[in-house]
Amino acid sequence: MVTIRDVAREAGVSVATVSRIINKKGEASPETIDRVNNVIKKLNYKPNSIAKSLSKRNSDLIALLVPTISNPFFPELVKEIEAAANEKGYNLYLCNSDDERAKVKYYLDSMVDHYVCGAIINSLHVNAEDLAMLEERGIKTITIDRANFEHPFSAVTVDHKQGAKLAVQHLIEDQGCANILFISGPKDEQSAKDRLSGFEQAVSESSHRIQTDTVYGDFGMESGYQAVKSKLEAGGRFDSIFSSNDAMAIGAIRACSEFGRNVPQDVKVVGYDNIGFSSYMLPSLSTIDQRKDEIGRIAVDELLRLIQNKDLEPQKYNLEPRLLIRNSSQ
Ligand code: RIB
Repeated sequence: MVTIRDVAREAGVSVATVSRIINKKGEASPETIDRVNNVIKKLNYKPNSIAKSLSKRNSDLIALLVPTISNPFFPELVKEIEAAANEKGYNLYLCNSDDERAKVKYYLDSMVDHYVCGAIINSLHVNAEDLAMLEERGIKTITIDRANFEHPFSAVTVDHKQGAKLAVQHLIEDQGCANILFISGPKDEQSAKDRLSGFEQAVSESSHRIQTDTVYGDFGMESGYQAVKSKLEAGGRFDSIFSSNDAMAIGAIRACSEFGRNVPQDVKVVGYDNIGFSSYMLPSLSTIDQRKDEIGRIAVDELLRLIQNKDLEPQKYNLEPRLLIRNSSQ
């Protein structure tokens, strides 16, 4: 492998001169710059980005910590963030925590070891002290999606409470539903708690008498299927389902179908996330769009804003969710 020393020797200059010319820093005569650049081309020298990170104690890496990659919402979000980062000349250091505190801790330490320049964090297991530790080491942070607006750092998410309200108001006011089964995400999950609160507020604010029931899932398809299957086995007579995410809604629709409850004729269903599958389902799934592309762009732009000017104040972004009405609730 060609090193910076080979280039310096061939060009008859010091390693420091080659480094200055590559990083466009400091003085060098036009002749020297031309001679070094010609040698770089002749030897096909590629600067070693790890070595550069070590010397600068910083890199072009942005860490992205997500709770899982098995739920389709997250890979779709990762794709948007990767595109936004690459567009600005940065690469992603993807950290999949499997929602386990031990793995979160491992990756937080690994971010420091890899000199990442910023960290985008999507996890209920990361607290304000963790973020402060990264910030103290010069790693700017932003939390997304499962963001916590109480801590002093930047955050961007769709307003999950408002998203739930839009879904439930659609079922009640547009479709005349009067008996709603709510499938919540995990009890301790902030985004699930916000959706539960939005569901309860929409029902209490309605002028109609609405019967409700709540079951809990883990954001996976199987949990949505089992939750609705058990309700149907117990004779549940709900005329609609609002699910905290699309994956559980897909499981719920399967359970309805196995019990001869037709969607949307017998049971209207609305999910949350607008994952790619949702529009291809039969019936196509009504859902709340989480504006993944905008969250990705804002997360990267906010990090770079803070990296380029360390004295700037962190910002919070609470985006308006969008209701997408499709066949499953019409
Ligand atoms: O589907 C996974 C859920 O977890 C999404 O709704 C997302 O908001 C995350 O909180």
